[in-house]
Amino acid sequence: MTTQEKITELAKIAAEINTFKGLDIAKNATHAVPGEGNPDSPLFFIGEAPGATEDLQGRPFVGLSGKLLEKTIKETLGLNRSDVFITNIVKFRPPDNRDPFPNEIEACKDWLDRQIAVIEPKIIVTLGRFSMAKFIPDITISRVHGVSRFIELSTENCQLKTIVFPMYHPAAALRAGNIMQEFISDFNKLNSLLHPTILSPSVKIEIQQSLF
Ligand code: URA
Repeated sequence: MTTQEKITELAKIAAEINTFKGLDIAKNATHAVPGEGNPDSPLFFIGEAPGATEDLQGRPFVGLSGKLLEKTIKETLGLNRSDVFITNIVKFRPPDNRDPFPNEIEACKDWLDRQIAVIEPKIIVTLGRFSMAKFIPDITISRVHGVSRFIELSTENCQLKTIVFPMYHPAAALRAGNIMQEFISDFNKLNSLLHPTILSPSVKIEIQQSLF
């Protein structure tokens, strides 16, 4: 797909999300939060669900967690948030920031799969346990954060080989100093994965496989 085709397709998905009224959280939302960013980004960040600030603005990660995410992307990867793509598992705010329900994750699944299929990211970064569970079920985040793994996504819309890189949610990093250290350290690992400049392509692949 050309960049223009990607922009058109992402706008189509966003329009579907913005007009959807099939869940209570969608009916009660001030704004839906489809996601935003660079359609050609090699990095695709997936959070949990919008909070109060995101619901007011219709944009992902613009509250306190978002400020930390944006600052860490800048300081460790040298990128602006507009250089990457950022979205959530669930596109509408659950009341009182409760955990998303399985039916809410299911209702939003097709939009997320389509966003991934359009962007074809090199690395999908999951933030927190709900987005991790989409790709790596039945595991705790403390065991697998900061370790990349190859996945093959095969859905109606998508046949894609890519890398998933699970990380703690920035809200967890804001709550606990030791998680903050892991969060920053994982971002530094992500930077090495993204810019393995001194290695030849074959060595890169061996190293990535050995991380499993
Ligand atoms: N937390 C999330 O998981 N997503 C947002 O967009 C904001 C906070």
